[in-house]
Amino acid sequence: MIIREFHPNDIRRVYEIEEMSFIDPYDINILKQLFDFGAGFLVGQIDNNVVAYIIFWINDENKGHIISLAVDKNHKRQKIASKLIKRAIATFIEFNIFTITLEVRAKSKEAIDFYKAIGFKKDKFVSNYYEDGSDAFKMSLNFFDDWSE
Ligand SMILES: CC(C)(COP(=O)(O)OP(=O)(O)OC[C@H]1O[C@@H](n2cnc3c(N)ncnc32)[C@H](O)[C@@H]1OP(=O)(O)O)[C@@H](O)C(=O)NCCC(=O)NCCS
Repeated sequence: MIIREFHPNDIRRVYEIEEMSFIDPYDINILKQLFDFGAGFLVGQIDNNVVAYIIFWINDENKGHIISLAVDKNHKRQKIASKLIKRAIATFIEFNIFTITLEVRAKSKEAIDFYKAIGFKKDKFVSNYYEDGSDAFKMSLNFFDDWSE
């Protein structure tokens, strides 16, 4: 797998993965806008096929924030998400950012187990966080400049 910067030509495929991965997928236009607004946006590609992506930025509190991360269902458990998030962490470190936060659906055991495996800790339960009334956990990870991929 190679990791590369998102290109606008990838948008349909990224949206396909977003749709298969979330019950409340971001609209395709929002995904495009995140890129236009300068969010970090990387894709994982195997042969000629985009199989995963990560979108991230630096939030108002000067912390790294993961906006979206998903892997095509046919390519899960191949450490693809681990590689993408580690690349995002390397980018945050370049900006002297050593904390990442994110929100995850409280019922998404898969995502919570993944983030825990990376080293994230649950900080806070937020009831009614999502538009459909679902609850979330806020999770965070602190790391230092000796973090390596
Ligand atoms: C969560 C997700 C991104 C993980 O992607 P992935 O590429 O399969 O994850 P990795 O292969 O890097 O997994 C690394 C470790 O995380 C943990 N993990 C990942 N998926 C898991 C699962 N379904 N159940 C339990 N642990 C899991 C494991 O410890 C795994 O290591 P192992 O395979 O050696 O046991 C992927 O399942 C996905 O796209 N889910 C739908 C979208 C989503 O929930 N995104 C995250 C919220 S933004």
